[in-house]
Amino acid sequence: MFPKSLIRCMGCGREYGNNEIIYKCQNCGSLLEVIIEPPKATLAEMSKRPIGVWRYREFLPVDEGAEVVSLQEGGTPLYRCEKLAKWAGVRSLYIKFEGANPTGSFKDRGMTLGVTKAKSLGSRAVACASTGNTSASLSAYAARAGLTCYVILPAGKVAMGKLAQALMHGAKVITVKGNFDDALKLVVDLSIKMGIYLLNSINPWRLEGQKTLAFEVVDQLGHVPEFLAVPMGNCGNISAIWKGFSEFKAAGITKALPQMYGVQAEGASPVVNMLRKETGVFEPVMNPETVATAIRIGNPVNWPKAVRAIKESKGLFDTVSDDEIVEAQKVIAYVEGIGVEPASAASVAGVKKATAKGQVGKESEIVCVCTGHLLKDPEEVIKVCGRPIEIPPDLKAVSELLFSS
Ligand code: F0G
Repeated sequence: MFPKSLIRCMGCGREYGNNEIIYKCQNCGSLLEVIIEPPKATLAEMSKRPIGVWRYREFLPVDEGAEVVSLQEGGTPLYRCEKLAKWAGVRSLYIKFEGANPTGSFKDRGMTLGVTKAKSLGSRAVACASTGNTSASLSAYAARAGLTCYVILPAGKVAMGKLAQALMHGAKVITVKGNFDDALKLVVDLSIKMGIYLLNSINPWRLEGQKTLAFEVVDQLGHVPEFLAVPMGNCGNISAIWKGFSEFKAAGITKALPQMYGVQAEGASPVVNMLRKETGVFEPVMNPETVATAIRIGNPVNWPKAVRAIKESKGLFDTVSDDEIVEAQKVIAYVEGIGVEPASAASVAGVKKATAKGQVGKESEIVCVCTGHLLKDPEEVIKVCGRPIEIPPDLKAVSELLFSS
């Protein structure tokens, strides 16, 4: 029932077997991707199973006889947001709320595949660098699978909720005086040296799980949306989602493709900078900074895949400021009742910007991926909303406070 697959280099096309543990092409150093044989599957048949990542198992390359490690990820809500659409200036806006995943972010879609792969390869330990969510997710899936988990985080720059998750799930948490890019370089070297299975999105198996977001959007909406907006950090997610839409089309399940809209934070926007200049030269941002710590990344490993997704889909790209991110986060919470973390709000802030510029037509339909839950970053909420007012426990005091002026 699972598809046949192989690993292929996106640079020189060299092919590798499914069970080779490599993260870059040994020939040319480019990124690797998993290629599957397009399955003969129909949405009607797959839809008989419960919604979630494993509904689409015909598209998920898992080794025969592998024991699937799952926390029932995916199957997240697709909310129609009429008030938010009005605010953003577009006819139809949906939020695909990835905060509803088991550990509160889209990373769980990838980790169910990635940790299943780690198990079937016989690995005893897994590792990642993270701005927070990857480590929260990996530590939970490693716990479920009975694997040792190492995570390396940029010191002082990981939101409290995410750190709490990694600690409670029993990961060995190490912080480094440096940013995410430094942490990633370190963990790649460490994994290769110590034979630990690396589960950052440079590992192509993780993206195989993350592509199911595209399948669910088609399933829930009943068609392919015109646009799909997504925040970009290390750029795995936009690549995975585009792969998902492309595979559904290749399998004859859909006929259309969306235009992908990649949004970065102003202070961490190497991919958008490159696309704007059109020189084809990628320059990392040395000291990335943004309120959206999840996407505070200056040297995203998957940038070539993100650029390919945006170009192939004739898509859009832009940056949003921290103020625009926080404003969107507040509006999503106030008018729709959906609590998202700052990075997630970047997709919605990006839509408002694109409609104002006329890049997204007023009559368009757009799906925004909101990647993580509000509870991930409670400290940011206190910073932007303030603390509650404290009063003595008496009626006079509370009435004065509520009804004066
Ligand atoms: N949104 C959230 C909430 C994230 O945690 C991330 C990435 C992104 C968006 C960007 O996704 O990297 O695939 O482009 N977080 C990673 C982490 C880097 O370590 O948790 P991407």
